Amino acid sequence: MIRILVLPGDGVGPEVTREALRVLRWFIDHRGLKAEITERDFGLVNWQKHGTMMPDETWARIEEADAILFGAVGTLDQKAVPAEERRKGGLLRIRKSLDLFANIRPVRMPRALLETSPYKPRVIEGVDLCFVRELTAGMYFGTPRGVTGESPDRRGVNTHSYTEAEIARAARFAFELARTRRNHVTSVDKGNVMEAGALWRDVVTGIHAAEYADVELRHLLADNCAIQLSRAPRGFDVIVTDNLFGDLLSDAAGAIIGSLGMLPSAALSAPDAAGRRRALYEPIHGSAPDIAGQGVANPLGAILSVALLLRHSAGMPAEAALLERAVESALDGGARTADIAAPGEAVLRTEAMAQAVLDRLIHD
Ligand code: NAI
Ligand code: MG
Repeated sequence: MIRILVLPGDGVGPEVTREALRVLRWFIDHRGLKAEITERDFGLVNWQKHGTMMPDETWARIEEADAILFGAVGTLDQKAVPAEERRKGGLLRIRKSLDLFANIRPVRMPRALLETSPYKPRVIEGVDLCFVRELTAGMYFGTPRGVTGESPDRRGVNTHSYTEAEIARAARFAFELARTRRNHVTSVDKGNVMEAGALWRDVVTGIHAAEYADVELRHLLADNCAIQLSRAPRGFDVIVTDNLFGDLLSDAAGAIIGSLGMLPSAALSAPDAAGRRRALYEPIHGSAPDIAGQGVANPLGAILSVALLLRHSAGMPAEAALLERAVESALDGGARTADIAAPGEAVLRTEAMAQAVLDRLIHD
C-alpha cells in the first residue's frame, strides 16, 4: 500500500491534476495498484483559505506520504504574500525537507507530433532522452546568499557549491537509470571555469571507472550540450547535471516536443533502510495563468507523471509502459489539445484529452 498525497495547487494545477487522478484511479480499479489517496490544498489557495501557505496539518501529510502528485504552484497575485510565507509553503522546502535529490525529466518525441514541433522532423524523430537533474544543492541552495548593501552598491549573491557526496549520488542514480535504458550517460558541467564543475567531472569519472565501466560515459560542457540538444537530440540517452544547468537544459530540450504541457517529471530521494524512496511527481509546466480556468490545458504532462509514479513508487513498470503507450496511441488517433494542434485540427478540452487516454487504456 502506498500513501499518495495529491496537491493540485494553483492555476491549471487543479485542472490537470483532476485528470491525472482519474487515470491513477483506473489503475487502482483495474490493475491492482494498492494506494491510499489524500488530497490537500496547496499554494495561493491555502493563503486565501487558511491565512498561511502551509497549514501544519498539510505539512504532516507531506512528511508521511510515499508519493506526492503535484499540480503547479504560483500565480501573479502570489506577490502579495510575504516572502517568508512563500518560502514556508513553497516547492523548494518540500524538495529539501524530503531530500528529493534526483529529478528525472524524460523527453520522448511522440511520432504524432513530428509535424507540429518547431524542429525539423528528421532531427527529432525518435528522440528519447532523460535528464537526471540534481535538485537539492548547487546554485539554488548554496550559502552565502542574499542581497546586501545599499543602492547603488547593492550586491546579489548566490553560491554554486557541491560536495563530493552530493555529486556521487546523482551520478550513481544516472548510471543505474542508464542500465535500464540504452546504457549511455552524458555528464554536463562547466569544469573549465567553475570549481564545483571541475569537482563534478572528477567525481563522475571516478565512480564510472570504479562501479559502472559497462556504461558508456561522455562529458560535455554545458554550453556545448545546449548546442547538441538542439542540433542532434537523438544522440542523448541519460543526461546527468547540476541543479541550474538541469533546469535550463531540460526546459530547452522540452521545447523539442512543442509544448510544456506534454512533459512529466519525478523528484526522488535516496532509498531508506527499508528500500523505500520518497517521491514527488509533477508536470514540468507551471500554473499557466494565461489559460487557467478555461478547461483547455493539456493534461498529458500530469498523466505521464502518473506513469512515472507507477514505475518509481509503485513498482509497476509494465503498467507505466501501458500508460505511456496509451498516451502515444491517443495522439496517434488524433487527440489534440490547443497547445499541440496544427492549424485546422480539431481541439479537445482537458477532460476530453484525458478521456481519450482512458479509452485507449480500456481498449488496447
Ligand atoms: P508556465 O509553465 O505556467 O506557462 C508557460 C506557457 O506554457 C504559457 O503560455 C502556458 O499557457 C503554457 N502552458 C503551460 N502548461 C500548459 C499546459 N498544461 N497546457 C497548455 N499550455 C500550457 O510558466 P510561466 O508562465 O513562466 O509561469 C506561471 C507561474 O507558474 C509562475 O507563477 C511560476 O512561478 C509558476 N511555475 C511553477 C512551476 C511549478 O509549480 N513547478 C514551474 C514553473 C513555473
Ligand atoms: Mg524550470
